[in-house]
Amino acid sequence: MALVAILCAGTVVAAGWYISAARPPFSQGDPQFKGAGDAVHGQLIFAAGDCASCHATPGEPDRLRLGGGMALGSPFGTFRPPNISPDPVDGIGRWTAVDLANALVGGVSPEHEHYYPAFPYTSFTGMTAVDIRDLYAYLMTLPKVSGRAPPHHPSILFRIRRFVGFWKLLFFCEGQSEARLSGEPIHDRGAYLVETVSHCAECHSSRNVFGAIKPDTRFAGGVDPQGTGFVPNITQQNLGKWTERDIATMLKTGDTPDHGRVGSSMADVVTNTAMLPDSDRNAIARYIKALPALPTPRP
Ligand code: HEC
Ligand code: HEC
Repeated sequence: MALVAILCAGTVVAAGWYISAARPPFSQGDPQFKGAGDAVHGQLIFAAGDCASCHATPGEPDRLRLGGGMALGSPFGTFRPPNISPDPVDGIGRWTAVDLANALVGGVSPEHEHYYPAFPYTSFTGMTAVDIRDLYAYLMTLPKVSGRAPPHHPSILFRIRRFVGFWKLLFFCEGQSEARLSGEPIHDRGAYLVETVSHCAECHSSRNVFGAIKPDTRFAGGVDPQGTGFVPNITQQNLGKWTERDIATMLKTGDTPDHGRVGSSMADVVTNTAMLPDSDRNAIARYIKALPALPTPRP
């Protein structure tokens, strides 16, 4: 009897261990990532992806010094975006474009460990291979910064990275994008930027007790994960009076149609969207304007 119980428990543990393993989506040498990427295009992906907002060294005026270390608060502990400068020791200087693709698309490190979803790979997972290759080429042109970020302080539940594997089974669809395509090129470009690269829903939605976005609140607003107020609803429920042009202008200058300015973390987002070509801001605006109205969830 005891032996059967031990065998059963052993099988459950082994199965759990197996299903929670981190499996990189791409193998080294994958032809999609071969060849030199276009760093000029990669710079736009970097701006659209808001990478510097989390990875730039805090207090450092040069936002291209990606030494990491900012404190990202959340109900699951404090996370510190790491050094992603091309420093070979403390940054990602030894990484290949495939390693970057596995991090962004799979949330998996070169050591085959899971990343915490405080790194928004839940959105980046829909990125195209060309964009990742170009982003890699751009990252490798940035200054090398030495020094590592302080360690994360995850809450007890996520102290063990392997547990993120169970979270991913429940809430992560590798390689899939939430983009609702219409066939119209400007709208669909906007869909890709909003849902994937610029990850607007990561802030403008409410989350469940496990920290995953509740699908019926996507873009309808939610409590700021850092605990500093409420991020507004950006569906037509709240933005009905904004025109596409109003949205595109705000993404360039920060100015809102009621003669105010966006603040807090949105001001950081605007520093980056201001660097995009008009065509991309217009595309984002078109997709946002097409989001169906959803009621603002109660905090
Ligand atoms: C909301 C904040 C945030 C944004 C935006 C963000 N990251 Fe990160 N990133 C993180 C955090 C937090 C981690 C650490 C995850 C972990 O250790 O599990 C991380 C980890 C990484 C890693 C793994 C580094 C290593 O040493 O293992 C890479 C590479 C990376 N990010 C690249 C990017 C790129 C490129 C962008 C823009 C497209 C980006 N990140 C945008 C928060 C962010
Ligand atoms: C890092 C979190 C974050 C991300 C990512 C983000 N936003 Fe925001 N956004 C905010 C916050 C916070 C505010 C409220 C700013 C304020 O209080 O002035 C805001 C405000 C806005 C507003 C003004 C709403 C109003 O009622 O005044 C719009 C429109 C908007 N965001 C659109 C976007 C779009 C489009 C994207 C993606 C390109 C995006 N946001 C990405 C956090 C974010």
